[in-house]
Amino acid sequence: EKGTYDHYMLKEIDEQPGVLRKIIEAYSTEEGTLDIAPMIKQAFKQADRLYIIAAGTSYHASLIGKEYFEKLAGLPVEVHISSEFGYNIPLLSKNPLFLFITQSGETADSRQVLVKIKALGYPSITMTNVPGSTLSREADHTLLLYAGPEIAVASTKAYTAQLAVLAITAHAIGGGAQMIDLKKELALTANAIQTLTDMKEEIAKIARELLTDKRNAFFIGRALDYYVSLEGALKLKEISYIQAEGFAGGELKHGTIALIEEGTPVIALATQPSVSPNIRSNVKEVLARGAHACIISMEGNSETDDRLILPYVHPLLTPLVAVIPLQLLSYYESLHRGCDVDKPRNLAKSVTVE
Ligand code: F6R
Repeated sequence: EKGTYDHYMLKEIDEQPGVLRKIIEAYSTEEGTLDIAPMIKQAFKQADRLYIIAAGTSYHASLIGKEYFEKLAGLPVEVHISSEFGYNIPLLSKNPLFLFITQSGETADSRQVLVKIKALGYPSITMTNVPGSTLSREADHTLLLYAGPEIAVASTKAYTAQLAVLAITAHAIGGGAQMIDLKKELALTANAIQTLTDMKEEIAKIARELLTDKRNAFFIGRALDYYVSLEGALKLKEISYIQAEGFAGGELKHGTIALIEEGTPVIALATQPSVSPNIRSNVKEVLARGAHACIISMEGNSETDDRLILPYVHPLLTPLVAVIPLQLLSYYESLHRGCDVDKPRNLAKSVTVE
């Protein structure tokens, strides 16, 4: 039910703090820590490499998941687009484990990979929002997202849920170089998301300043921010039909900067302390070519001209917060253009053809 909302998408954006709190609860143990089922942990411990298979927004979440597994669990990861992997299986490690990330659990491109790797005898886990879905039934194990039904075609709360469950899983396996009090940091992240969903008017204003009458837009970032910029661009394309590209900040100058002209919108994410000076210098490069830049940074790592400063969260968890203004920018621009927010043209909620 939409209740007082005009669109499911906005309702689902607003549900994100609650979803995150529900995930924390669902994965909490009696001892008050976060954990996953022992059998799933065992499957991870036996693997020498994790292969994450996904499509669309779930693929974008997977790229961030790779960082979590490598940093928190010391497990090497490859991330693959399901429609590519299935028809061109790369050289695999000795003991691979396959993780399928799929909100719906019905995506045909991902399922065909599952069918193939099962035939090869490899172990599999599906991370999904839908218990009893095809990929959940067919994989050896399931990790649930607890995001509640997602009705709007453009995925929002399932993405942040995927990031949270990926962090919890990687943290539960443990043994990586980085340590984090994940339960505490995720709770703070839920509050930070709440703060942003309460800033709708400001974000709607940014959408009007930046995107009104624009044909194209660029999202740039480095490290984790790069992956979030891919998701920001996809959201804008899907629901407002603006041609958008997510780009690694440092890669722009190797060609794509040729597209920057007077007034081209460039949304730069600068939440990562380790690459903050680098992304800021990329912003200077596009400003010098006439771009209209909008820097989104984070408390503790901001400068005076930044257009939006996100509440501070642990540097590994910034994607859960940085994506919120990007979801809202797309929503308000879609609304402003009179597009069908919840049911964009040419798209279906679950893609059951290959
Ligand atoms: C984007 C979107 C799609 C899906 C993709 C995979 O907003 O909804 O890109 O993420 O079709 O779907 P699932 O996660 O159900 O496998």
